[in-house]
Amino acid sequence: MQALEARAAELKDSITSKPSKKLTISMPDESTIPNDEYGAAVRRGMQLANHTYRELPNNVGNKLNCTSCHLNNGSEAYAAPWNGLPGIFPIYRSRDARVNSLQERINGCFQRSMNGTPLEMDSDDMNAFISYMTWLSQDMPIGVSSEGRGFVTVDSTLTPDPIKGRALFSKTCTTCHGENGEGQYNEDGTYLYPAIAGENSFNDGAGMARTYKAASFVKGKMPFGQGNTLTDQEAINIASYFTHLPRPVKANKDKDWPKGGAPVDVRR
Ligand code: HEC
Ligand code: HEC
Repeated sequence: MQALEARAAELKDSITSKPSKKLTISMPDESTIPNDEYGAAVRRGMQLANHTYRELPNNVGNKLNCTSCHLNNGSEAYAAPWNGLPGIFPIYRSRDARVNSLQERINGCFQRSMNGTPLEMDSDDMNAFISYMTWLSQDMPIGVSSEGRGFVTVDSTLTPDPIKGRALFSKTCTTCHGENGEGQYNEDGTYLYPAIAGENSFNDGAGMARTYKAASFVKGKMPFGQGNTLTDQEAINIASYFTHLPRPVKANKDKDWPKGGAPVDVRR
């Protein structure tokens, strides 16, 4: 009887105890990708993430890769990492006022960040993205947003000054991203530095086209390799300038946030 009670206590403990591995967002060792069909899908997903416009020309309307923004294979803290997402989605999103699957969320970035068209929901390539994100999520608990999801926060009560932003942009961003944010390209047409404005960039319906959202990415991650060196005000000034440079226009933006609650920086 006593043994049974002890066993019951032990089981209870194992259900409620915290995960033993630390919850850190990082790139798992690639040797843990299995050498089977599932592993092939994981590898394909990683390839799609890093070479999106080359591999999926029918679905990408600009010259960006997923990893232009989701840095380090989609596994970098505060660069909207994908680790853990298969255990978090489906979630409700106010932008379309419904519960979204992870596949729908991925297609959101295809239509806006990539200025393109959605992948077929049940295609091998969509399953490759999901396989890769699931592999990235090993050791992550289900249903928990880990530290480092999304971007760092900036003070969204600060008023943007695009004039000051323009001056600082010229000083701190154009050496890599070009005078007008058009990016820099190799001879084979691939980018050396991605476009943050113009026809090769994300459209005006993308999260990155919103001043405070872009500022939170820029504050945490730019200039590349020197994250968290700009003040909130500087990041907001720069973001208000470059997000409003000419870029592809998303149709039907007026249908976003059908039940209200649109953030203040949403483009109309
Ligand atoms: C131009 C930058 C950019 C590119 C390129 C981009 N995304 Fe995103 N993505 C974002 C932003 C911004 C968010 C929202 C982050 C936030 O609000 O915390 C996001 C969010 C996401 C999320 C949800 C993250 C979460 O924590 O809920 C997924 C999944 C995602 N993107 C997948 C993709 C995939 C797959 C691609 C390539 C096909 C891609 N993204 C390309 C900017 C980008
Ligand atoms: C030293 C070069 C360098 C500098 C300087 C730099 N960036 Fe970047 N930027 C990069 C690289 C590299 C990436 C990621 C590309 C990749 O990994 O594929 C990137 C990505 C981005 C992205 C997301 C991808 C896209 O094209 O939309 C934005 C937005 C961005 N940078 C804005 C800025 C801003 C604003 C500044 C100035 C504060 C800045 N960057 C300064 C190199 C730089």
